[in-house]
Amino acid sequence: MDIKQHLNDQRLLVETALNTFLPKEEGLLADHFAALRYSLVAGGKRIRPVLCMMTAEALGARMEACMAIPCALECIHTYSLIHDDLPAMDNDDLRRGKPTNHKVFGEAQAILAGDGLLTMAFALLSDDALPDRLSSADRLRIIHLIARAAGSHGMVGGQALDVASEGKTVPFETLAAIHASKTGALITASVQAGAILGGATTAQYEDLTAYGQHLGLAFQITDDLLNVEGSPAELGKAAGSDAARRKATYPGFFGVETTRRKAGEAIKAAVDRLAPFGTTATPLRELARYLLKRSK
Ligand code: IPE
Ligand code: IPE
Ligand code: MG
Ligand code: MG
Repeated sequence: MDIKQHLNDQRLLVETALNTFLPKEEGLLADHFAALRYSLVAGGKRIRPVLCMMTAEALGARMEACMAIPCALECIHTYSLIHDDLPAMDNDDLRRGKPTNHKVFGEAQAILAGDGLLTMAFALLSDDALPDRLSSADRLRIIHLIARAAGSHGMVGGQALDVASEGKTVPFETLAAIHASKTGALITASVQAGAILGGATTAQYEDLTAYGQHLGLAFQITDDLLNVEGSPAELGKAAGSDAARRKATYPGFFGVETTRRKAGEAIKAAVDRLAPFGTTATPLRELARYLLKRSK
């Protein structure tokens, strides 16, 4: 299969749906909605919503009526990027090829744009009027797992550790925890939400969870490598900034060559967990291999 084409098709579906869920830039809150929209529609690979869709489809589900859940994942991810770029955090000026949200709207409005996106995600997830045929029990399961993955036991906790580790030499356990939580948790949750949408059995859910965990680790390791070796023009965000801020990264800990090998091992481990699935999981396999070779 042509994974690049497939990813592109899926990305367009996500972007069309995001447009329908986003509030229009009118009325008293037009400026606030413009700040949300600025970061959300700014580009981005849409890996988390696409993972959710591909996982559900691997189990035979059809996603057209279920786009609120993938879109909610993208809202949470985009909020995390807006806050990650703030002067108090990574202090970055470029994101998705454009000036960062706070550069355009100011810090206070950027913080609020992030808050708005995070909260909007949970409004979308909990909307019982959606035509996605989820039982209330499954909807609650999805909301809970995404909340855990986004919060202090997941992404927020990882960001807290990431910031606290700047400029320090941290043990491998801390580095591993940062990567598993700041990035791995939401990627894993995206796969798990797709698994529930697709009606996974317990065994399938376990395999897919492990796939998500290995893929999430590989994804952040690759992000670290791109910060060393990539160019801002292609990445659409800064390069070289991790070393400048003395961030806890895989290349900082292991060097570039060992890091590249570890990324490959994590991708292999991810793909291995898809062995019980048939050809419907081909997009998940191809996506994992593609993400190892990504240049942005
Ligand atoms: C960047 O995520 C931040 C990490 C968690 C590594 P992505 O690489 O998915 O960023 P976009 O969504 O494509 O901009
Ligand atoms: C991103 O980590 C993690 C989250 C935004 C939750 P990084 O700070 O390493 O990601 P980039 O390189 O700025 O995208
Ligand atoms: Mg960061
Ligand atoms: Mg950053």
